Amino acid sequence: TNGTFLPIQNIQGDILVGMKKQLETFYFFHINDPASFKTALNSYVPTITSTATLLSPASSQPLAFVNIAFSSTGLQALGITDDLGDSQFSSGMYADATNLGDSLSTWESPFAGTNIHGVFLIGTDQLAPQDSYVSFYVSGIVSTFGSSITEVDRIDASARPGDEAGHEHFGFLDGISNPAVAGFSTTVLPGQTVVPSGTILTGRLGDVALRPSWTLDGTFMAFRKLQQKVPEFDAWTLENAIQNPEGTLTVQQGADYLGARMFGRWKSGAPTDITPLVDDPTLGADPQSNNNFDFAHANSSLISDQSRCPFSAHIRKTNPRADLADANTINHAIRAGTPYGPEVSSSEASSNTSTQDRGMAFVEYQSTIGNGFRFQQINWANTANFPPLKTVTPGIEPIVGQGSPRTADGLNPVDPSVGYTVPQFVIPTGGEYFFVPSISAITDVITA
Ligand code: HEM
Repeated sequence: TNGTFLPIQNIQGDILVGMKKQLETFYFFHINDPASFKTALNSYVPTITSTATLLSPASSQPLAFVNIAFSSTGLQALGITDDLGDSQFSSGMYADATNLGDSLSTWESPFAGTNIHGVFLIGTDQLAPQDSYVSFYVSGIVSTFGSSITEVDRIDASARPGDEAGHEHFGFLDGISNPAVAGFSTTVLPGQTVVPSGTILTGRLGDVALRPSWTLDGTFMAFRKLQQKVPEFDAWTLENAIQNPEGTLTVQQGADYLGARMFGRWKSGAPTDITPLVDDPTLGADPQSNNNFDFAHANSSLISDQSRCPFSAHIRKTNPRADLADANTINHAIRAGTPYGPEVSSSEASSNTSTQDRGMAFVEYQSTIGNGFRFQQINWANTANFPPLKTVTPGIEPIVGQGSPRTADGLNPVDPSVGYTVPQFVIPTGGEYFFVPSISAITDVITA
């Protein structure tokens, strides 16, 4: 890849630059007055952060960045009736929730329905003064857009503190594996998948649908509010602590081992496919080697051996690598979520019960929702017989897999035939499908 041909000054910044954000606020809005909204948005366009700006020297970057995205009902409210060529986007996520395996009873009211017209994503990497850059930008939005919009919901997400920075709430390092994008990424890490730009950007080579020309260099964003039951996860892995083949683990080590096998990575990010029995923080932190595996090994069977990584593990279900005969470049997406909610309190930890809302403000970008997020969730995570052609049934993905029975196999390396009925530790509480237009599409079409 040469990193040169995409018009990076025209592509919104969060899509291709998988930034780890210290803080990220999601400001969901409803449009009350389309005409005054368009006037305000037109004046606001210079504040919207492009990919080029995020790649510029730190000294010339703003203290926070802003991106904007619209739901299907939001575009309709603005008088844009074009078919964008994505049926899940057109119907919205609430209509798709049961297909995704969600229980509608856990969806929070701001997301239930199609009332959300758009979202501002406001992020910063500035640590201090905590929160002030984001609130400055939120005030800017409130004063610029006035009564043309109403806030429907707001999620203030943030990186976890101290050594947990970059780790999601269960404790696992996140933001390790994203695809490289041909024509954009200047380096390809060992083991990293390279996807055509059209797997992520609408209208680019590899995009599989016909769309209006103004959608070039946009993307679809799947947003999910995913609540995480952290003390419950910790208690369950302790209760079900597993043993290594030598029988040498303490209960806590056996719990960590089970958690690592549920994800396919240790908390440090080290892949169990490379280091199956113990965590290796140096490996976890090394981008030159922490993706350099594909589950295939010369002296073991890809169709039956789960000694290194269960077939049902989170990273194996969502990126099966050598489990699929052909190198898959379609069912990839770029993840850019941020954890939300407080750290586990001592009373939550001692009672093994969540009393506060915490989880993942999950974001995935792709040119076709049904090939990216939705495929990973429904066809892979929720589907017990995926990956295919194994000698045993892999079972459901134990972290984000939805549906019943919640049986994941292969978690116990000593006896991979043991099926674990895994409680639901991740509960979808809302979400929406959005279109993230290019900056020129905002000026030329959306505010026209
Ligand atoms: C990777 C956590 C939800 C798709 C990962 C990793 C962690 C993680 C720790 C490994 C680090 C990395 O490769 O960056 C979580 C948590 C979730 C969640 C805690 C929910 C609260 C989802 C959902 C999907 C998804 C809903 C899609 C349906 C992926 C993909 C990867 C990944 C595609 C990269 C796999 C690879 O290339 O190795 N996730 N995740 N995740 N996750 Fe999730």
